Amino acid sequence: MRKSATRLRLAGALAAALMLAGIASGTAAQAGERHGKEPTLADLAQRHGRYFGSATDNPELTDEPYKALLGSEFDQITPGNGMKWYATEPQQGVFDFSKGDEIVNLARANRQKVRGHTLVWHSQLPDWLTGREWTAPELRAVLKKHVQAEVRHYRGKVFAWDVVNEAFNEDGTYRESVFYKTLGPGYIADALRWAHQADPRVKLYLNDYNIEGIGPKSDAYHRLAKELKAKGVPLHGIGFQAHLALQYGYPTTVEDNLRRFSRLGLDTALTEVDVRMQLPATQEKLAQQAKWYRDLTEACLAVRRCVGVTVWDYTDKYSWIPAVFPGEGAALPWDEQLRPKPAYFALREALGGR
Ligand code: G3I
Repeated sequence: MRKSATRLRLAGALAAALMLAGIASGTAAQAGERHGKEPTLADLAQRHGRYFGSATDNPELTDEPYKALLGSEFDQITPGNGMKWYATEPQQGVFDFSKGDEIVNLARANRQKVRGHTLVWHSQLPDWLTGREWTAPELRAVLKKHVQAEVRHYRGKVFAWDVVNEAFNEDGTYRESVFYKTLGPGYIADALRWAHQADPRVKLYLNDYNIEGIGPKSDAYHRLAKELKAKGVPLHGIGFQAHLALQYGYPTTVEDNLRRFSRLGLDTALTEVDVRMQLPATQEKLAQQAKWYRDLTEACLAVRRCVGVTVWDYTDKYSWIPAVFPGEGAALPWDEQLRPKPAYFALREALGGR
């Protein structure tokens, strides 16, 4: 922690020196240019063969300063909502990919890769799906059509899909979603197979929260992944959301956990990272948060098949936390004014930058 405060001070001093040099030698633009050559988080991650990404959401894309940073600092984007079922199939059989397309097009313009999020989830389902009972054959057909239409639409445009999101409860039992209740646990293998048929090249993931450390829920994923691999089901990776909260402690087994999934022949990724705290944010809490961001990133770098890190949006201005956990927030590496926080400098440090 002391080291990071010193680094921060050094970074500030360096920036001031660069500015002075720019002014002394004539133009602020020159100083800006020099500053512009600082490697981004994406540049730094690429040196390790990883990506560094951010989630984003369509309404935010009218915010130009926000959009500029999103386009420059990251090499991977995940749509926070735009590819979910309620958005993409608002009426049964009527598909609307406009929101996801907007994000894919933006990512393309910025040469960023896109994680598709998400095909099968119990939340944010359209009313037509949740508002009635389904027989198993009916729901199976609905699910297959949705998965395949969406995967086909984004074929070649997303490098990975969160095929099934949040399938387990905290104790490692299956979540009683409409899919589980109607179709049984086989819906997971089916969704993976259907997605693979629709795009044989895209990486297929299961994704969940509270599975960063070793415990009943991550054990359930380990068991399931092993079983699916043994049956030849196309599963390529596990996404660890990593929505952490200072008050609950750091999951100290994250590196070992990532590694045991790698050993199954799977990629891993930290897919939705944020570290919330009880407000107000203090310097101590922000320093603690910075350390957690650094530790998570270092854990990913330490495990060969951990392919990248994605923050669940990059600025507190657009974080989902305050709406869902009243009194909590300040979870991301940039503050509400888009100023970098200690967590940002800790990320740079973890990635080997200064
Ligand atoms: O679209 C409506 C809009 O019409 C309405 O005016 C507004 C008023 O509240 O709500 C809008 O819907 C919101 C939606 O995001 C789109 O902005 C919902 O209320 C809100 O609940 C929803 O939150 C999303 C949340 O998933 C839902 O569970 C967050 O933005 C999104 O970041 C979050 O992401 C999830 C991942 O998909 C899975 N892992 C957990 C993560 C955090 O919850």
